[in-house]
Amino acid sequence: MELSVRGGDIIETAADTIIINLFAGVTVPGGATGVVDKALGGAIQGLAADGEFKGELNELAVLHPRGGITARRVIVVGLGQAEELNLDRVRQAAGTAAKEARKKNAQVVASIVHGSGIGGLDSELAAAALVEGTLLGLYQFQGAKSKAEDQGIKQLLLVEKDEARLEAVRRGARVGQTLAEATNLARDITNQPANLMIPEKMALLAQEMARREGLTVTVLDEQEMEKKGMGALLGVARGSQEPPRLIVLRYQASPPTSKTVALVGKGLTFDSGGISLKAREGLENMKMDKAGGAAVLAAMQAIARLKPAINVLGIIAATENMPGGRAQKPGDVVRAMDGKTIEIISTDAEGRLILADAVTYARELNANLIVDVATLTGAVRTALGTQAAAIIANNQSLVQEVVAAGERAGERFWPLPTYPEYKEQYKSQVADIKNVGGSAAGTITGGLIIGEFAGTTPWAHLDIAGVAWGERELPYQPKGATGFSVRTLVNMVLSMTN
Ligand code: BES
Ligand code: ZN
Ligand code: MN
Repeated sequence: MELSVRGGDIIETAADTIIINLFAGVTVPGGATGVVDKALGGAIQGLAADGEFKGELNELAVLHPRGGITARRVIVVGLGQAEELNLDRVRQAAGTAAKEARKKNAQVVASIVHGSGIGGLDSELAAAALVEGTLLGLYQFQGAKSKAEDQGIKQLLLVEKDEARLEAVRRGARVGQTLAEATNLARDITNQPANLMIPEKMALLAQEMARREGLTVTVLDEQEMEKKGMGALLGVARGSQEPPRLIVLRYQASPPTSKTVALVGKGLTFDSGGISLKAREGLENMKMDKAGGAAVLAAMQAIARLKPAINVLGIIAATENMPGGRAQKPGDVVRAMDGKTIEIISTDAEGRLILADAVTYARELNANLIVDVATLTGAVRTALGTQAAAIIANNQSLVQEVVAAGERAGERFWPLPTYPEYKEQYKSQVADIKNVGGSAAGTITGGLIIGEFAGTTPWAHLDIAGVAWGERELPYQPKGATGFSVRTLVNMVLSMTN
């Protein structure tokens, strides 16, 4: 889909479909909606007066003007109460309206920027949210279906009447497009079945991205991991026929700076549990255990395009967790890259093992700050459900930065406590630590185990196991992979620039 920003009046824009909005409780619409309403002889006012359109959030009405206006159809989307409008509601309304336009076979769609102007939102942020909601809402995973899904919208025009806001709308649209395309890339990678998206394939995607976007890339194979002493990551990979990969994407700021953020992702392309085999029910969804790695890969694409003033490393630990004949076993002891020994209690607690070495590697590459992202624990789904990801960190200001970046992205992160007493739970009789701290506070101990490898480097761990996969469609999120945390990571990096 092509995207452009236009000045002028939406009723004069050459488009087959125009999208406008209405707040709840408004009987005489103003702004662009008012102009369209007049051109339609008061049709929108009529719907509101008869109580057929209440302006509730995500409510839809489709009108056919038959003259008076260039477009064949007008889509009115409800924004809810004016006082409750925020950027996430703009995303939702945009996604809802765009899907309706596609259903009607719209080709060229013109939309006003919900919230900019009368809505009182910052025009740049509103434009970004509008584009995000649209592109995220329209996302479909093509997968291996022989027949193509719905025909897509060819062109989206954002129409801003106020000349003074035009530049801000342009900037916002570009950022929104970059963030949405990255989110959709993460969804695509995560939705891919595990036989197609093997660790080598993730590495290949990273190499292609590096070439396309001007990033540097290095990929460590098993031999190189061996040399680095990455026994924790290699231990997980042992049970699989597919060779593991440690992928490192590098964005270098110009002018040069020594400030380097590392984004570290769990790219577990299939989690069978290993010898501690998972139950068969729902096992097909364990292809999504690469969501953290996919988010990091995708965030690097956006970072390459938005060019922040700090260096960013994207590190993805990619492997399968399988119960092959050479698989590691409960009771085994492995030695991580930093020299710590780990007793394996459950081979299904593999995320912390691969991240242990990936985080150590981030430190070796001189990262001053580390954020890891992982579908780490089933326990976080019990604690927070699908409404928020958990954040566990060794640095309070980093927690605040992630939470704030998440708010701007429409993604929630909820901090969990990190009392030192929790560490008692993963003390081992035979090694420095064990990889499971019992079932109590599983999300916290899982995170803290990764934190053992961050040392004194400011570090945060995002457990996205509850939010990386959606079982039902939402206004700008289809079923399946959500791409959760991509926009937060990018927002966080951008805010660290200032
Ligand atoms: N990948 C899983 C966590 C997960 C569960 C992700 C459900 C998405 C949906 C992780 O590797 C895992 O198996 N964790 C174990 C840890 C336990 C053995 C300490 C879990 O949560 O049961
Ligand atoms: Zn896992
Ligand atoms: Mn597991």
